Amino acid sequence: MNTSIVQAKNLEMTYRSGNVETHALKGINIDILKGEMVAVMGPSGCGKTTLLNCLSGIDQATSGEINIEGKNLIEMNDNQKTKYRAQHMGFIFQTFNLLPVLTSIENVELPLLVSGTDTKTARNKAQKSLESVGLGEYGHHKPAQLSGGQRQRVTVARSLVNEPYIVWADEPTGALDSETANGVMSLMTDLNKKQGLTILLVTHNREVAELSNRIINMKDGVISSEEKIR
Ligand SMILES: Nc1ncnc2c1ncn2[C@@H]1O[C@H](COP(=O)(O)OP(=O)(O)O)[C@@H](O)[C@H]1O
Ligand SMILES: [Mg+2]
Repeated sequence: MNTSIVQAKNLEMTYRSGNVETHALKGINIDILKGEMVAVMGPSGCGKTTLLNCLSGIDQATSGEINIEGKNLIEMNDNQKTKYRAQHMGFIFQTFNLLPVLTSIENVELPLLVSGTDTKTARNKAQKSLESVGLGEYGHHKPAQLSGGQRQRVTVARSLVNEPYIVWADEPTGALDSETANGVMSLMTDLNKKQGLTILLVTHNREVAELSNRIINMKDGVISSEEKIR
């Protein structure tokens, strides 16, 4: 585990609304290794979500370099980035971001359909992915028919369906009670340990963060310290 998968150099992000400028990232350097699970911690507003969104190309950083599997993310246009995300990245958000009108299996297969996979292959892969999170029997349930923990498992299945280089998780257990959160975290930790899935996880929860290989502490738009865990 020493091949770099994501490298960012001097990453800066300044939001402008009207006359107000917010320097959300002030020169971040980060190197995420293949198979690594990295937790990002820090007080509310310190730039964790901004970092995740810039690294994954959801937001365009103001300046700096980002390389993912040797590809320069900054040089891609919006369409290229959208396609790249659908093909090579997985996402898990605090609020699940499942489409309520779609069934579990339809939600899970969506990233594949977006990137042009044929419907039959997409359906098969989505079913396998649901099985891998213990929800093989729940493909035809809609989000409203599932518990919070099951919904988050569906988003984990969705994040894995394209066999991503990396999964980005922004406070994935933030909306779950502690028992349910433990279930989701042990699922993610298993995927990291057994399948070598690379994960960058934002969390407020120290216990959750300590399940990672490394904790990156942020403060006011910079990395203030790093801790090696395992
Ligand atoms: N879309 C935006 N427009 C303007 N300012 C923003 C936007 N998103 C975040 N910010 C600001 O950037 C800073 C970092 O926010 P964020 O990355 O969401 O922090 P965290 O995830 O650590 O709570 C905050 O000051 C926040 O108000
Ligand atoms: Mg945030």
